[in-house]
Amino acid sequence: MLDLIVYAVLVVLLVQVFRLRMSDGDLSLMWCERFGESPARLAGKVVWITGASSGIGEALAVELSRAGVKLVLSARREQELSRVKQRCVETGKVTDDDVMVVPLDSVAYDTHAGCVQRVLAHFGRVDILVNNSGRTQRSVFWETSLEGDRFILELDVVGQVSLTKAGMFGALRAELHSYDINVLIVCPGPVESNVVQNAMVGEPSKSLNIDPKLDPVHVDDMSAARCARLFTVGMANRLDEVWISKNPSLTFAYIYAYLPFMKNRFLKTMAKRVMKKTQ
Ligand SMILES: NC(=O)c1ccc[n+]([C@@H]2O[C@H](COP(=O)([O-])OP(=O)(O)OC[C@H]3O[C@@H](n4cnc5c(N)ncnc54)[C@H](OP(=O)(O)O)[C@@H]3O)[C@@H](O)[C@H]2O)c1
Repeated sequence: MLDLIVYAVLVVLLVQVFRLRMSDGDLSLMWCERFGESPARLAGKVVWITGASSGIGEALAVELSRAGVKLVLSARREQELSRVKQRCVETGKVTDDDVMVVPLDSVAYDTHAGCVQRVLAHFGRVDILVNNSGRTQRSVFWETSLEGDRFILELDVVGQVSLTKAGMFGALRAELHSYDINVLIVCPGPVESNVVQNAMVGEPSKSLNIDPKLDPVHVDDMSAARCARLFTVGMANRLDEVWISKNPSLTFAYIYAYLPFMKNRFLKTMAKRVMKKTQ
């Protein structure tokens, strides 16, 4: 009997390892993509996406527009946002009135409340806020100025908190009794976008500006469209956290989470390899 249980556990483990090898998202997300709620259930919702002028945010806007989701598109470059809006209207199930362009700088905190008011005046509510705007950085610790560290924290952390607070204030006033709030953390691996070109090097005014294919981390990126598709599956199924990545990064994520004793060794080996290739 014990033998049977051991064999059964081994078979289940092997099946999971095989599934992981073939996946480009965590196993719960893959399950939901096949058997869970379709992103079509988001039709009619109002989704506000920051960083919608390129990369993952743009692809997400296009994917959601195909599901008939009303959109608020934000980033700094208004012209690019208008281009994305046009794409959504031409390829999705949305009209000109269903897509609102709201230019916004994530670190201009005192403008956020005004942006929320504009959105509420147009749509009356925001169902989902996607805090996607941001920038990565590529200089080593000792070559990054404190100003650079502060800039990344302000943009990638405080900016998100600021807009969320401004949005919640507005939403709570609009719908005092609704506290049914779900938080989804999306963890993408390497995805095709402008992230490599825009990566900060040492200080805010300097960008990496290289072809992503020359970056060892981004040689085999997932397409932004596929990332956006899985992103919407996570949203439609109200998941708490999703990992979206091709292998081997996806397997590494599992190792980091479930085999923590191997994490540091892996990180050190990978860091050495990347440093060698970039020097
Ligand atoms: N691609 C990847 O491999 C990857 C992996 C993990 C995480 N991420 C994260 O995913 C998010 C989206 O990045 P992406 O890959 O799509 O890169 P991207 O193509 O460079 O997009 C970044 C977006 O953020 C906006 N943005 C930058 N600074 C802003 C500011 N101060 N205020 C408002 N918007 C600002 C940009 O628009 P404007 O320039 O018009 O303002 C752009 O729309 C980022 O937070 C990135 O760190 C990406």
